[in-house]
Amino acid sequence: MSNINEIQYRFPEGFWWGSAASATQTEGAANVDGKGKNIWDHWYEIEPNRFFDGVGPEKTSQFYYKYKEDIKLMKEIGHNSFRMSISWSRLIPNGVGEVNQKAVEFYNNVINKFIENGIEPFVGLFHFDMPMELQKIGGWTNREVVDAYEVYARTCFELFGDRVKKWFTHNEPIVPVEGGYLYDFHYPNEVDFQKAVQVGYHTILASAKAIKAYRQLNQDGKIGIVLNLTPSYPRSQNPADVKASVLCDAFFNRSFLDPSVKGEFPEELVQILKEEGFMPVVEDGDMEIIKNNTIDILGVNYYQPRRVKAKEYLPNPEAPFMPERYFDYYAMPGRKMNPHRGWEIYEKGVYDILTNLKENYRNIECFISENGMGVEGEEKFRDENGIIQDDYRIEFISEHLKWVNKAIQEGSNVKGYHLWTFMDNWSWTNAYKNRYGFVSVNLNKDGERTIKKSGHWFKKVSKNNGF
Ligand code: BG6
Repeated sequence: MSNINEIQYRFPEGFWWGSAASATQTEGAANVDGKGKNIWDHWYEIEPNRFFDGVGPEKTSQFYYKYKEDIKLMKEIGHNSFRMSISWSRLIPNGVGEVNQKAVEFYNNVINKFIENGIEPFVGLFHFDMPMELQKIGGWTNREVVDAYEVYARTCFELFGDRVKKWFTHNEPIVPVEGGYLYDFHYPNEVDFQKAVQVGYHTILASAKAIKAYRQLNQDGKIGIVLNLTPSYPRSQNPADVKASVLCDAFFNRSFLDPSVKGEFPEELVQILKEEGFMPVVEDGDMEIIKNNTIDILGVNYYQPRRVKAKEYLPNPEAPFMPERYFDYYAMPGRKMNPHRGWEIYEKGVYDILTNLKENYRNIECFISENGMGVEGEEKFRDENGIIQDDYRIEFISEHLKWVNKAIQEGSNVKGYHLWTFMDNWSWTNAYKNRYGFVSVNLNKDGERTIKKSGHWFKKVSKNNGF
């Protein structure tokens, strides 16, 4: 691999090599310089036991203080691009109203530092971190929050859009729906399908409104969304299994993919919502906005496949409505596992997603915006020189990249690969349990950074534009 002539998997000129992270998971400084509280700060205050080892969001990896060192390290390991997110409650502490000048200064410094180091900042506007003041009025269930988000998005474009040329309205918008309103892993921990639908709908509307605002400003960049497009594989080709997988796909993938790229909602999903009586509240003119403001670019997050089968048993009619009324999950015998995280590894999934985008979604410009391998107890792989020997991660990345490469050969419009994540970070209720970074963060030594073997490897891949 050291010799450029030995490169087997070559990537197109200008391919984006880098990683992704989010504000709440990395910045720390949750209570300083005027930042307002978001739902994570609040939830941790009232229920610290819900977080792994009781570790909360107040410190995380201290990017707020160490960004210069971190950006230098990114450069050192070959990044030419990086996705960060802006913390809404840092920039606008109450979600609406006054802009926090300390936050403007921080994000200006960070963006400038990226550019100085030849790393293009891709910027996300919402990565699971609803300002608490807005959650108090219902978060995404409340239409006022859509309006507040539009103002926030416009503020970001006006402040930073002269230098930031790739914007993302949301990261994995299905996750706050699932976590906050169905499966109890995000605040406000409600189980209420009607609210879940409203939240999803308002998120899409907010995305379209932000896109509209961006285009009005004529800033000469691109705007998109980042979706976790976990493919739904049926257990068998029996029509019942296939139907289950189609419906599962409509709930969890096409619910956001179709309106984002095509400006319309999947028929199967609308049908179910109508039949079950869960249609969201829609105002006149909304559909027009969604139709006319689709994305330029799509970020694809892919970790593991979703395997489904037809329902084994009749659902309990008394239970709260859940998407699983239409399918069951299925653990495929013989599947390859990441034993350190308990997730299946299925590298071809990334190719299947890219092929689907090519064939059914106008081969929209896209990139792999997250892919990665979480490992619990990674310290045990540290060698005598202090370097974590994460060969499993190198294998994970290269096996996925081979499929990305094949998709490119076949005409996919995929422009880059970002690992989740640059350095080990705080991952919501899992806190620091699963480590994902190219760089380790030692929480016992003031967050000391050490490049892992995979970071050194990635540097060569990026330099050679292949491996
Ligand atoms: C992704 C999210 O879905 O998964 C990240 O975008 C998150 O924010 C990552 O950190 C890993 O999750 P976990 O639960 O394995 O730590």
